[in-house]
Amino acid sequence: MSTTKPATRPENPRFSSGPCAKIPGFSLDKLSDAALGRSHRAKVGKDKLKAAIDGTRELLGIPDDYRIGIVPASDTGAYEMAMWTMLGERPAEMVAWESFGAGWVTDAVKQLKIEHQVHTAEYGEIVDMAALDYDHDVCFTWNGTTSGVRMPSGDAIPADRKGLTLCDATSAAFAQDLPWDKLDVTTFSWQKVLGGEAAHGILILSPRAVARLESYTPAWPLPKIFRLTKGGELIEGIFVGETINTPSMLAVEDYLVALDWARSVGGLMGMMARADANAKAVWDFCDAHDWIDNLATDPATRSNTSVCLKFTDPAIADPAAFAKAVQKRLEAEGVALDVGSYRDAPAGLRIWCGGTVETADIEAMLPWLDWAYHAEMAAQAEAA
Ligand SMILES: Cc1ncc(COP(=O)(O)O)c(C=O)c1O
Repeated sequence: MSTTKPATRPENPRFSSGPCAKIPGFSLDKLSDAALGRSHRAKVGKDKLKAAIDGTRELLGIPDDYRIGIVPASDTGAYEMAMWTMLGERPAEMVAWESFGAGWVTDAVKQLKIEHQVHTAEYGEIVDMAALDYDHDVCFTWNGTTSGVRMPSGDAIPADRKGLTLCDATSAAFAQDLPWDKLDVTTFSWQKVLGGEAAHGILILSPRAVARLESYTPAWPLPKIFRLTKGGELIEGIFVGETINTPSMLAVEDYLVALDWARSVGGLMGMMARADANAKAVWDFCDAHDWIDNLATDPATRSNTSVCLKFTDPAIADPAAFAKAVQKRLEAEGVALDVGSYRDAPAGLRIWCGGTVETADIEAMLPWLDWAYHAEMAAQAEAA
């Protein structure tokens, strides 16, 4: 045990779970090729939007017959657009094991008021995905950003399902293997694993999702920014870069630069390996210290991006105050920014381990966590 400050500091102390750390070596100069002041409908703008879609398909290995669209309002915009346009045709299984999934449950139950069944698990646990009725639509989050619990695989989702699966994959895309044949709607935001900007969401549709859009009209009105069909047919332009409304060409450029960087580190495999190495460094630290542990109870469901931790020392009098105090110490030292747990989640820490974070920075930060824990325990003992 030591209350001496570690000698080294992380070069980049940004471990926020969103917006996440920018790509290593980022500077605004890298965006100098942005099509600023040009129409997004001019060739230069359209080409960049198309490159963003094509790069997403290439890097994530999305099948050729899936549509990829850039839509307004980040991941929330993309996911709600899918819910509002596709749900209601049949009952929905609404699945939540942390805050964001719970938000989608509220949408279905209180706003859309569709026929539904709710399946929830406590923070740290996961819902039994094999127990759901896949003849219904199923809404779920692949990686629970606020609990650090992820789907271990898509094996529980049957290939011959009659309903659609709507997957919020915002903190999974570019870090975890997504089984496209099991996902009918997938959404994510640029602000997460690629460290991009939050302006836009990515909406990925399987052919079955497109068939739903073209065969079903919801009972409720849709604002213009949610409309994906016209006259009962998919608006194909949205999926080649003709966005519904004006996009930020600066955010688009930033995404293109991030995609290039992801290619340079080995594409999806490289990105997954980087997140795995980062998360492993944190897990090893937990294994080596008996006062801290993963919030995820089953190792197979531990997230490699939003790693959520709880303090397990029974001597801690007030866990919420303790976690906050540790976070404050780390922040004050400038060694770990934004690592407090999400406001609705159990008290603890959350350390972003997505691929834009360097493993060396995680490794340099962890001794500071050890220091902050002991410093806070000492302060608590003194106050008692
Ligand atoms: C799982 C999940 N869903 C949705 C969101 C909302 O994303 P955005 O703010 O980019 O719309 C977040 C943000 O952290 C998230 O983690």
